[in-house]
Formats: sequence, structure tokens, C-alpha cells
Amino acid sequence: MKDQILVTGGTGYIGSHTSVELIEKGYEVVIIDNLSNSSIEVLDGIEKITGVRPAFEQFDLCEADKVKSFFQKYTGLKAIIHFAAFKAVGESVDQPLMYYQNNLISLMNLLRNMDEFGVKHLVFSSSCTVYGQPDELPVTENAPVKPAESPYGNTKQISEEIIRDNMQVKPELNTIALRYFNPIGAHSTSHIGELPRGVPNNLVPFVTQTAAGIRKELMVFGDDYNTPDGSAVRDYINVVDLAQAHVVAINRLLQKKNNSNFEFFNLGTGTGSSVLEVVKAFEKVTDQKLNYKIVDRRSGDIEKVWADTRVANEVLGWKAKRSLEDTLESAWNWEKKIRGIK
Ligand code: UFG
Repeated sequence: MKDQILVTGGTGYIGSHTSVELIEKGYEVVIIDNLSNSSIEVLDGIEKITGVRPAFEQFDLCEADKVKSFFQKYTGLKAIIHFAAFKAVGESVDQPLMYYQNNLISLMNLLRNMDEFGVKHLVFSSSCTVYGQPDELPVTENAPVKPAESPYGNTKQISEEIIRDNMQVKPELNTIALRYFNPIGAHSTSHIGELPRGVPNNLVPFVTQTAAGIRKELMVFGDDYNTPDGSAVRDYINVVDLAQAHVVAINRLLQKKNNSNFEFFNLGTGTGSSVLEVVKAFEKVTDQKLNYKIVDRRSGDIEKVWADTRVANEVLGWKAKRSLEDTLESAWNWEKKIRGIK
């Protein structure tokens, strides 16, 4: 019998790639998603890659009665990966209550039912946003959590605190929180990828949409940062590498290799790239010029951040493998596919 893993938000960007990796490693995947920021066709993509269509339940994790009915139906769950959450920084500033409501209530509903139904293992989708602008780079897991820059970031911090406090009274629970840096790219088959609604907030979808002619030009937010070329620096990690880290985390939980019941890992490449370096790398792999202009800094942006990956490398035994160029190429192939560009 295959171990059954619940993936909340499993039709989303990182959730879909993780579902593929789990299936390919022999897990049975069950997805919950309300499709608020994803599409049912993502299941077709997962099936095309793996030959398996995961079980799918469409509902909102904020609806406590539906969550309970789900746990009553699926009695064989071994672990949960909780992705389902709102994730747009700017939107969270405009609609803070919507973010707190959605991201925190859903988590608490899950934790309550995990306790009631005896599901002991959780992988939680966290973010490097918890570090703010770190005092030291690369940033380690021990860097202090800084006051959040946005309600979105605050929901990640509070979620980690909720999990930690709950574990004080539920020591049988085991959690791994994965703090992502900047996930980019798409599956190498181009059957799944990122599907931002409306105008993308994030750099790489904006770049690929500009190259596809959907956006007139990329705005590079600031060239006066204290960085080698003046543009802001991030740690861009391939989404498949990131997805594979989730499988490693699940293996670790199920094999009970974790030494404490709440562990944190930074998931990045360990290398920072500036916005202008990303633009240049994209131009190189696509062999075309990208329209862009330098504009003012975007409010709320930090100057630079990249991960210290030693703990993930040594303790999880996981390392990001794919290069920035290959990753940008995968993002471009995906954009071409969904736009019907040859
Ligand atoms: N950028 C541009 N032009 C754009 C979009 C982005 O120049 O059109 C720049 C940003 O200013 C930033 C870099 O590209 O310097 C990366 O921006 P993203 O929006 O892609 O990513 P962020 O680093 O701002 O945000 C990401 C995640 C958030 C998370 C945050 C934590 O998207 O969920 O990292 O630092 F909270």
C-alpha cells in the first residue's frame, strides 16, 4: 500500500510540482484546493507527467465542517503538506483581514483535525519573508525573525507560532517548516507551471509575459541599491528542486529521522542574483532582447537576501541542482506553451 499524502493547494504553482514529485516517488496524493488561484486543468498536467490523476476535493479549508468531513472520508492519511494560502504581498496590504482570515483559519482547521484523526506529520509552506532584511548574509535558519513587512509575511510568522504553540500540548505532532526563497520556472515537460492571474507581481512571470508580448515592458524596480549592479538581489530557486525538497521532508517525517518535532529549513540555491542578472540570463537563453526600463524602487522591497543552505544540504540531504539559465528556459517554454507561441 502506498503512503497517502494530503497536498492542500495541490493545483497551485508549488503544490502541483510537489504532487508530481510525490507521485513519481511512489506516494499516493490527495489534493484539496478551492481553485481560487488555480485551475482544474492542472490535474490534466499532473496526469500527463505521471500517468496518475490524484484524488481531488474542491473546497475551502476555512469551512470547518467540510474539513472535518474530508478527514472522515480519508482515513489513511500519513502526512500533510500545507500549501493552500493567499500569497500576494501587495494584495495583503490592501486586504489584511482577508489574508489573516484565509491563511490562519485554514491552518487551524487542519491542525484541529490532524489531532482528532491522528495525522501526525506536517510540512508547512513558509517563506524567507520571515527574516525581513537580514543583518547577515547568507541568512541561516537561526537568523532572528524580523517584524513582518506585510500582512502576508505576518501570516507566515503567525502560522509558525501557531504550529509551535500547538506542539507544546501535542508533542506527538511532527512538523517541518520549509522557508522558500524565490521559486521560479516550470516543469521540464511544460505540462505544469505558474499561472498568475492578471498582471504578475513577481519578476519571472512578468519577464516571460513581456517576452511573449503580453506586457509592453518590464519595470526594474530600482538600480540604486547597495548591490554590485544596483538592482535588488534574490535567491531564485527552481520549482522542481523546491518540490523535491518536500518529498525529502516527507520521507524524513515518515522515517522519524527528525531530532526535534519542529524543524526549519531554508530552501534556496545559496546564490543571489540581481534583477538585471536575471534579465541578462533570460536574454541569453531566449536569444532575444527584453524590453525593460529602470523605475523607482517598489515599496516594501528589501535590498538583498539569499539563503545559507548548509542545514538543508547536511540535515535534509537536499541541494538545488538546476541552474538559473535552465530554470529561466523552462519558464519561457511554459509561457510559450500556454500562449501558443512556436
Ligand atoms: N521586480 C522587478 N520588476 C517586476 C517584479 C519584480 O524589478 O515587475 C523585482 C523586485 O523589485 C525584487 C525582485 O524583482 O527585487 C523579485 O521580486 P518578486 O516580486 O519576484 O519576489 P519578492 O522577492 O518580492 O517576493 C518573494 C515572494 C513573496 C515573499 C518574498 C519574501 O513572491 O511571496 O519573496 O522575500 F514574501
